[in-house]
Amino acid sequence: MTQPANNAPLDFFWFIPTHGDGSYLGSERQQRPQEFAYFREIAQAVDRLGFPGVLLPTGQSCEDSWITAAGLAAHTERLKFLVALRPGVTSPVFAARQTAALDRLSNGRLLLNVVVGGNPVELAGDGVFLPHDERYEQAAEFLTIWRQLVSGETVNFEGKHYRVEGGRLDLLPAQDKPPLYFGGSSDAGQELAAEQVELYLTWGEPVAQVAEKIERARRKAAARGRQLRFGIRLHFIVRETEDEAWAAADRLISKITDEQIEIAQSRFLKEMDSVGQRRMAELHGGRRDKLVVAPNLWAGVGLVRGGAGTALVGSPQSIAARIREYQAIGIDTIIGSGYPHLEEAYRVAELLFPVLGLDGQRRTPRRSIENEFGVGFYGNKRLQAAS
Ligand SMILES: Cc1cc2nc3c(=O)[nH]c(=O)nc-3n(C[C@H](O)[C@H](O)[C@H](O)COP(=O)(O)O)c2cc1C
Repeated sequence: MTQPANNAPLDFFWFIPTHGDGSYLGSERQQRPQEFAYFREIAQAVDRLGFPGVLLPTGQSCEDSWITAAGLAAHTERLKFLVALRPGVTSPVFAARQTAALDRLSNGRLLLNVVVGGNPVELAGDGVFLPHDERYEQAAEFLTIWRQLVSGETVNFEGKHYRVEGGRLDLLPAQDKPPLYFGGSSDAGQELAAEQVELYLTWGEPVAQVAEKIERARRKAAARGRQLRFGIRLHFIVRETEDEAWAAADRLISKITDEQIEIAQSRFLKEMDSVGQRRMAELHGGRRDKLVVAPNLWAGVGLVRGGAGTALVGSPQSIAARIREYQAIGIDTIIGSGYPHLEEAYRVAELLFPVLGLDGQRRTPRRSIENEFGVGFYGNKRLQAAS
């Protein structure tokens, strides 16, 4: 984990938008195609900018997270891949074998985000018909088998959802066991996290709500003699001034129609059984005039986007202050994103990382900023070179 100067440890990840990207939400204008070449551009940029990892989501509208991560691993050096794994749609033995292969292929850069899924309509399309809490029961069996296999054990298992006889991996992962991350806000989800995972993730709720939620998860883990780490998933709109940042936020949602908001909100509240999604939607109730839900915390993205629906909006100084509030309650990992993901990654790295004391970009060794092609030289007037 990166240890910022004078501050608590912080891992600042970014996001690969495998379901699409653009400059406006809810509009076809200035959209970017979901193609590997663009994902590679983002991954290579954030690898160079000093982000330690990226999250790859899963879902009906996403490019496959495993295949995309395998492709990106070949084009990056240090970047870790937090790959979404949906237990219900694959076998635990097959997932363990894929885990080993991708971890070795990437030289130990694999992390897994266990996502059980919160939309029964979408899950039915994937052949999953279990109700909410039973999906977690199935995931617990899945992870028990997966864990034994990636640890090199031979597995004989008979449960309610799986039966495996003499299961084993001959080729093991590069890491002892790739770490498991998890995001789910329901009680059943928290029980799974307490039992099985290393890092518990939440979408970007106000500090007090996050504090209450992670305290519950912490207590559940402690009851099992375990400890969890905690992370938060947020969008970022950081600019040199507050005014510029809020203008960018307004512009991002300027093309969304009321009808689009209505359709999205009714899907989030009626079609989905995700507790986490309901908590997101309730922050603003679908109202454009209720989007600032806490200092610098803006829910505009969630008007139409499922999942992560809030952004930290503001100057680098005010956003850093908000991040420190989350760190104070135990958050040590941030998974950021922003529209478009390439440009906003640069803004976060260039404006926010220095205030947070994060390393950021690797510097090109050079003696001074005096360079006739550089920004340090203006006509005949040389800037004072750093000595
Ligand atoms: C950071 C984070 C990332 C998530 N990524 C995905 C994803 O890629 N695909 C998905 O279907 N659900 C994703 N989810 C949703 C959860 O996996 C979970 O299915 C959902 O919150 C419903 O569970 P709950 O009722 O316990 O909240 C994510 C949740 C969080 C907090």
